[in-house]
Formats: sequence, C-alpha cells, structure tokens
Amino acid sequence: MGEFARCPDEAVKAAEAVCGPVVLSGITDRRGSAVWKGTGVLATVAIKAGYGEGEEITARESAVLDQLPGCTVTAGRYDRGVWYVTPWLEGPSTWDVFKPIRKGDGGREYALASAVHLCRAVADLHAGGWVHSDLQPAHGVHTDHGVRLLDLSWAWSPSFPPSPVFQGGITHLLSPELAAAVESGERPVRATVESDVHALAGTLWTCITGRWPLDYDAAGLGPDIGPSARRAAIATRTVPLCSDETWPALQAPLRDVLRAPAEHRPTAPELATVLAEL
Ligand SMILES: Nc1ncnc2c1ncn2[C@@H]1O[C@H](COP(=O)(O)OP(=O)(O)O)[C@@H](O)[C@H]1O
Ligand SMILES: [Mg+2]
Repeated sequence: MGEFARCPDEAVKAAEAVCGPVVLSGITDRRGSAVWKGTGVLATVAIKAGYGEGEEITARESAVLDQLPGCTVTAGRYDRGVWYVTPWLEGPSTWDVFKPIRKGDGGREYALASAVHLCRAVADLHAGGWVHSDLQPAHGVHTDHGVRLLDLSWAWSPSFPPSPVFQGGITHLLSPELAAAVESGERPVRATVESDVHALAGTLWTCITGRWPLDYDAAGLGPDIGPSARRAAIATRTVPLCSDETWPALQAPLRDVLRAPAEHRPTAPELATVLAEL
C-alpha cells in the first residue's frame, strides 16, 4: 500500500454534522476504496471513499445501504470519486472472535454462539430478499446488538439488480457453481442464497483454522495461480478441503456444506440451528 488516500473534505463535513469535530484514523485503502473511522464526541462513523476502479462499486454500495432496512447512510461525490458516511459498528469481526480458537486458547462457547449469530444475521438478510454476495471473515461485526454485515458492494435483491461487473467476490470462498458462472462469461453473475451459505461456511472454516478451506497444494495449484485459473479449478469441484482438525465437531457440519451441491446445502437459518445444537 502506498500513501493512504486523502479523506474527502465533503465527507468529513457530513461526518462532523453528526459527530461534532472528528479524529480520523485510516483503516484500509485498497483496490480504489478507503475506509476511515471518524471519532467524535457525539458519535463515531465509518467514512468510505471510492476512487478509480472503486468509484462505481462504492457508489453502488451506498445505494444498497440506502435501501437496506436498519442502515443509515449519507453519500456524495468529490473531485476524485464518491464517498459515504455510515455509523461505525463497534465490536470484533468474526475473524477476531475466533482468534483464541486458532491459538488453542479456549473460548469455544463464545465462538460457537458467535457463529450461530453470524448465520442468523445472514438468515435475516436473506429473509429480507437480499443476497450479500461477498461474505468473508472480516465482513461480520459482532456488536452488542447482534451481528451486522459489512461490505455490501455486491449485494442484490429483486428490487436492486446484481452488478454487471461482479466477479464472484473473494475467490477462496466461491461456491463451485458461482465460480463456473463467473468463468462462463455470462453477465451479470448472480450470487444466490445458496452461494452465500457456501461462503458463510467457508468464512467460519477459515476463522477456525486460519487457512482458506481448499487445499490448493494437493490439487497442484501453486500460489501464483491467477484468480481466473483458481475459479476454473474451483468450478471442477476437484480441489479437496484442507485436512486441518482444529475443531472437528464444528468443522464437520461446515465440511458437509462446503462439499454439498447448491441444492443440498442447508439454508442460513438451518445452518444456525445445526450449529446451535452442537
Ligand atoms: N461501518 C463500519 N463499522 C466498523 N468497521 C467498518 C465499517 N465499515 C468498514 N469497516 C472496517 O473497514 C474494513 C474495510 O471495509 P470494507 O467495506 O470491507 O472495504 P473493502 O472494500 O476495502 O474490503 C472492514 O473490514 C472493517 O474493519
Ligand atoms: Mg471488504
């Protein structure tokens, strides 16, 4: 990463209208979108700016936030692109929650409850007619008021069509059928509730083991393979799962999801129930 992007003055002004004077801290700046935490006396917000390749993706995300029940967003344009301001969601990510699990330091009860809460948050999104399309270990925030999902750039619903430039989200958590759809060249690619459940199970697997679910080495796929070749391999359903056994009882139902064809995957609420009964 080079120098952190400049936070748009217009966004700071919008943030200060709700927070009072803010102190900005840069969180991430990659692939044309940057996020800052803006901390004020009255409130704390997230500011996201999209520029270059990230401009239209960030604009789309703010439009999704505007449509989703329970989300608040203020958005605008600046000289380099677009920005939006939304409340800061306080709490650990799912990845953070599972840190003691990866280190073998206990904490299983809290982690398992958090896994169930993540499944229920996805279930609620699906019940509202939305598909997230890019679930990842960093995209669930475990707040005191439940899990909130981040990075809704690629979300779609019957009233908000999928983006023509969507390429399936993070490659490592792609379901085989979505990988095949991306590689087929058909556009728009439509993530589904079933592909979300695959990514949800893959997210939890990754949080437990600290590794992406698929054993690329075993399939002879080197680290330098590009995203397109990786998707093509995933689409063949021949890349095996990693054999890590960090938490066998929780990994077993996740393994079933990751191996199942779309039509045999549980729904998000069904997966929540399975995990809650462990
Ligand atoms: N509203 C928010 N509340 C708390 N953290 C946020 C919020 N929005 C973004 N973040 C933080 O910024 C990171 C990057 O945001 P994200 O929307 O995933 O951007 P990117 O497109 O770069 O992946 C998240 O993983 C999270 O740590
Ligand atoms: Mg993200």
